[in-house]
Amino acid sequence: MKKTTNLVWGGRFEYNSSNLLKRINNSISFDHNLVEEDIKLNKSYAKSLFKAKIINANELKKINVALDDLKLEVKKKNFKFSDDYEDIHMNVEMELKKRIGRLAGKLHTGKSRNDQVATDVKLWIKEKLKNVINKIIKIQKTIIKKSESNLNVIMPGFTHSQNAQPILYAHYLLSFFEMFERDKKRAKQLLENIDECPLGSGALAGTNFYEIDRKELAKNLGFKKPTENSLDSVSDRDFVIEFLFLLSILSMHFSRISEDFIIWSGSAYEFLKFPDNLCTGSSIMPQKKNPDAAELVRSKCGRIYSSLFNLLIIQKSLPSGYSKDLQEDKEPLFDAFKTIDLLLDIVNEMIGSVIINKIKMYNLSKKGYMTATDLADWIVKKTDYTFREAHNITGKIVLMAEKKKKLLSELSLKEFKTIEPKINKDIFNYVSIENSVARKNSYGGTNINQVIKAIKRAKKKI
Ligand code: ARG
Repeated sequence: MKKTTNLVWGGRFEYNSSNLLKRINNSISFDHNLVEEDIKLNKSYAKSLFKAKIINANELKKINVALDDLKLEVKKKNFKFSDDYEDIHMNVEMELKKRIGRLAGKLHTGKSRNDQVATDVKLWIKEKLKNVINKIIKIQKTIIKKSESNLNVIMPGFTHSQNAQPILYAHYLLSFFEMFERDKKRAKQLLENIDECPLGSGALAGTNFYEIDRKELAKNLGFKKPTENSLDSVSDRDFVIEFLFLLSILSMHFSRISEDFIIWSGSAYEFLKFPDNLCTGSSIMPQKKNPDAAELVRSKCGRIYSSLFNLLIIQKSLPSGYSKDLQEDKEPLFDAFKTIDLLLDIVNEMIGSVIINKIKMYNLSKKGYMTATDLADWIVKKTDYTFREAHNITGKIVLMAEKKKKLLSELSLKEFKTIEPKINKDIFNYVSIENSVARKNSYGGTNINQVIKAIKRAKKKI
């Protein structure tokens, strides 16, 4: 169809875009998420244009007032984005045109949507990183609170999902504090890595003769400095991938704690109960209370990983410079953040509100000969056997106990001596669960004083 519309790039076109093109090309339905960043960017850019004497003080003022008005309308949700203009940058520009006429056209001097979108996305991620960091800290605080209030709770520690050695529940919780600490560090690190502003790179080669001070522009937008290479700047989305990578690991940690809690809430363990507000019922089995919130947390990391892979695939073999493929970074990015933002709240609620059953935890700790390593260590310490020999002797003792259906602590000294005559009554100090926990007094171990120290150190990190 002969051209009827007046698109900003329409000058060299004779015919209208097809509806099919609009359907694949338009991004406003999702990149409207970047509106605040785009307005912020335009305000800083206008300042640079003024300094470069491309607009005068009066024009700068008009642009600023129009952008501020627009910002307010967006905030009040009064602003309607239009599908007539393909993306957020066009929407903002056309809206300005409605308000300040031709002057809006000056704002694009020396600027390309290529450096603009890269900058918008960076600004957006910077904000979201701060949000993620704050919410991680909230979870860490909950972990500390729960560790302090459950300091004496003993539970089985598992390897291969089998009872392995007894630990404190607080020690278990603090293991997640560390995982989240690493997630937080990754987020902080990314905040630093990301701190270079692409704006002023133009379409790919740099800004033309207009004297845009990129250093000042970067500062005005809250970046430490401008990016180094204009060609790289317009197609660099490493920071999106890094962001999705750190969200992926975070969601993986969420899935692990959810998995533990789900299994432990089941009838086989009954270590804990989810509160009603995190469960749903069954439409047929009246007795059921299902841990749906935790199950969904467990599964949502699939969604976040797929966003990461999506971006990795989009960018594989992408030729140098900007390509429209890069527009496809946004939906996975927004979806992953929306997901993690919800998970951060739910995981905090979950850790804070599960109801622990100390007795069940303790009773299961008695099973599985979890103090066998302590027994072997006693033999090493009190005799001249090597650890390998002690391991073998202890294995035989466990086998005997199993046959007699007794716990290690229930065996008599006589029974111990049938396997190893060097064993004396001191052994009973070593095979009790409490003593086993107490003896793990190494830095970072599960001994209660070590755990108290770990809590102290943790407090300093938040
Ligand atoms: N909507 C585009 C994106 O998200 C903006 C950049 C468009 N650039 C272009 N040369 N068509 O990537």
